[in-house]
Amino acid sequence: MCGIAGYVGPKPAVGIVFDQLKRLEYRGYDSAGIAVMEKDQIKVLKRAGKLKELGSLLEEHPSDAHLAIAHSRWATHGGPTDENAHPHYDAYEQIAIIHNGIIENYLELKEELLANGHKFRSQTDTEVAAHIIGEEYQRADSLEEAVKRGVKRLRGAYALVVVSKKEPGKIVAVRNASPLVIGLGKGENMLASDIPALLPYTREIIILEEDTIAVLEDDKVRLMDGDGRELPIKVQHVEWDVAAAERGGYEHFMLKEIHEQPEVIRQCMAGRIDEAEGIRFESIFSEHVWNEIDRVNIIACGTAYHAGLMGKHLFEKVLRLPTDVYYSSEFRYGDPVLSPKSLAIFVSQSGETADTLAALRLCKSRRIRTLGIVNVIGSSIARECDRTIFTQAGPEISVASTKAYTAQVLVLTLLALHIAQVQEAPGIRVEEWIEELLRLPEKAKAALDLESEVKEVAEECKNMPLCFFLGRGADAAVALEAALKLKEVAYVPTQESPAGEMKHGPLALVQPGVVSVFGATDPSTLDKVVSNMKEVQARGGAVIAITTQDDTTIQKAADRTLKVPSTPFEFLNAVLSIVPLQLFAYHVARLNNCEIDQPRNLAKSVTVE
Ligand code: M6R
Repeated sequence: MCGIAGYVGPKPAVGIVFDQLKRLEYRGYDSAGIAVMEKDQIKVLKRAGKLKELGSLLEEHPSDAHLAIAHSRWATHGGPTDENAHPHYDAYEQIAIIHNGIIENYLELKEELLANGHKFRSQTDTEVAAHIIGEEYQRADSLEEAVKRGVKRLRGAYALVVVSKKEPGKIVAVRNASPLVIGLGKGENMLASDIPALLPYTREIIILEEDTIAVLEDDKVRLMDGDGRELPIKVQHVEWDVAAAERGGYEHFMLKEIHEQPEVIRQCMAGRIDEAEGIRFESIFSEHVWNEIDRVNIIACGTAYHAGLMGKHLFEKVLRLPTDVYYSSEFRYGDPVLSPKSLAIFVSQSGETADTLAALRLCKSRRIRTLGIVNVIGSSIARECDRTIFTQAGPEISVASTKAYTAQVLVLTLLALHIAQVQEAPGIRVEEWIEELLRLPEKAKAALDLESEVKEVAEECKNMPLCFFLGRGADAAVALEAALKLKEVAYVPTQESPAGEMKHGPLALVQPGVVSVFGATDPSTLDKVVSNMKEVQARGGAVIAITTQDDTTIQKAADRTLKVPSTPFEFLNAVLSIVPLQLFAYHVARLNNCEIDQPRNLAKSVTVE
């Protein structure tokens, strides 16, 4: 996944698509490539690394072609290498394709293709899609027909762009859950994964709807549905400047990334939930390893540490597997006692955090098994762990981590369920969990719909001198992350602790003006939480509660209540509760004119100790 560009028209196409890719650089990528329609062949040029590497290659192979597609890749399946960079050919080298998203059933398809004699040059899911469409092309009378048939065999989220040397004036694209926009010019047409790439060339755009196939030629664009029926074209005129377009029209990347979470949850589960097999991961420890592990240590920093606390909650409550969570900086200097049968899990968005990397190396020197939960493929932690599970959250640009946190918690959830399955742990309703996980993207969307209420609450609280974040169980772990978000982006002092700890000291800080945000999503502890709320209110403090839609208890006690959708699992209720809390931090920061995406004193990736 990452950036897509394409052009067909009278001008030299290579310079245009290269420029379009540059305009998508802000999204992050690790390799790039281009397919150029030469007279009787498709020339593919690609390189790992930054765009300048591809730029040098293009200088060595000049072209005045009038059709090209290009891609900047952010690795998901297979490391950031020349071979794994897009475009990919089909088996007959008749078509070339670029792709954003994840093909969930690519392993099954690959096995089928291998059995039919196909050979693959890369480890990507994209090359599998290229072979599938290439196969269909052998029996179809047009490229769009081949794409239409091919995508019926693919499962997952994708934006695919395909060109064929048999139809050299045509670009065919299809979108399913990954964005694609088409730009209309005079005698030329183009496409991209994001609007900023198109702005210097046109402001007349078509946003491709779900499951729509687009056929671009220099003088026309056609749209059709999955059954080949022509669809009407809705052209929009875009007024955004480039900076607004990079943020997808959102005022800040943080807000964009908060809103991406329903899709991130879907992407994170992609290919990992199977009706027959349950939860599965590519290249994970085998059964005997899971049966041998006697203890888990989760090691991370900041938000990733908070995700680890959620993991501990689940591992201990659901799996009864003793789990400790360490700050990486403390772990490495703490001379930890490590059981030889333990597993060390390293959680990191960037995969480059210096303290986490040092803690990983310490574990490796002690011959402890290591597992990474990482967002950036090819990063140091991902490479050095014995096994790594990728969070598949896409590039996160805002310094304040939001969507990466949700994806980390979700991977830990999937992992706990995977271990439960392998160990045949009694009493764990894996099928019920799976059903509920599949509903989670919709529920996260509903949690985002709380934004207008959150804005009102933020307005009321924007001048608070201190904000408490409190909860019990998983809500207590979420409270730590919610507090970090508020202090990080809005610079509001916070005090976070389990709600039951209040009267052991922190309660002394409560006075009129102080706000306490309670996570109250676990039905089994609501009465206790209500007592804690009363203690705060009795000292003049204001109480905001995040609870679930079926609550009748908390709403009577709190001054303000925000309700996230209910699930049968208190843990997933808590997972959803972070969404309004992230929005709360964002809107308080916005009302106070803070520099939201790049808060003072902080960096996105902390590569120094
Ligand atoms: O890249 P990592 O996940 O290893 O980074 C860890 C922390 O630096 C990071 O989560 C930090 O706390 C975020 N800025 C929080 O929003």
